Amino acid sequence: MTRHLLQPFDLSRAETERILDLASSIEADPALYQDVAARKRLATLFYEASTRTRLSHETAMQKLGGDVIGFPSADVSSVSKGETMEDTVRVIQVYADIIAMRHPTAGAPMLAAKYSNIPIINAGDGGNEHPTQTLLDMHTIKKRLGRLDNFTIGFCGDLKYGRTVHSLAKSLTRYTGIKFYFISPEELRMPKACITEGMDYVETDSLEDAIGNLDILYMTRIQQERFASPEEYLKFKGVYILDGEKMKLAKPTMAVLHPLPRVDEITPEVDDDPRAAYFEQIQSGLHVRMALIMALLGLKDPKTGKHILDEQ
Ligand code: NCD
Repeated sequence: MTRHLLQPFDLSRAETERILDLASSIEADPALYQDVAARKRLATLFYEASTRTRLSHETAMQKLGGDVIGFPSADVSSVSKGETMEDTVRVIQVYADIIAMRHPTAGAPMLAAKYSNIPIINAGDGGNEHPTQTLLDMHTIKKRLGRLDNFTIGFCGDLKYGRTVHSLAKSLTRYTGIKFYFISPEELRMPKACITEGMDYVETDSLEDAIGNLDILYMTRIQQERFASPEEYLKFKGVYILDGEKMKLAKPTMAVLHPLPRVDEITPEVDDDPRAAYFEQIQSGLHVRMALIMALLGLKDPKTGKHILDEQ
């Protein structure tokens, strides 16, 4: 059976942790993994802007010894001629062994997966989900805190449209002792669908009030492209700015995460604070995506001789 990663729960908690463990093994000994995906090909189908996510998937595949094809925006693909998702996928699966897809429409990669006999990785669908970002966020949290349970996390900024927030919060509900602070203006609150039963959470609009309680602060960009008009966006631009003064209110052990790109929500002075973890996340992203590609292609970990995902 073809396995996809369309939303975080497509992987069991145990599988997720095996992918993070494999990412650590890759980090420790990259040479061992440099040919594992030789003669395999990744197609990156990006219908929406990206820097990190596309280049990170492509670099991950190359570091496994595999090849990469694809397009970086819809206007250079046949979508601009009106080709349907179904036809695009039918064509691409002849060329490639795995697809990473980003799309402005929520649910598009899920639709593509219905027609695909090769694994599809959702690299972000509209304001919905971003499960590979979640894997790298979890990897960074684990490295910083040494655990994935019993901590307090504050999500700050655009919680309504921020797909990285939706996927990470969802994933963390599988762990015990997680307390959530959802810090946003009233209009950009966490969608009700993302707040599940039993979630221990507080909603507030004040970063100053919440920051002292946090082990992880997850800052986000106001998602300009999802607003109905530029005026709507301008109402919220600059609403939260993390600077040196606010960092003084935080625990000395707190870690600041951000999926990037940042606009103005973290001032550059915070970059030199040892609590800033957002550039570390980039490194995690590469190793985690290498591990994910191996897992979905059904490759064995050369270190253990075993497959990464459970037999379905
Ligand atoms: C995020 C995304 O695309 O959702 N970026 C990323 O993949 N690292 C966050 C964002 O664009 O704000």
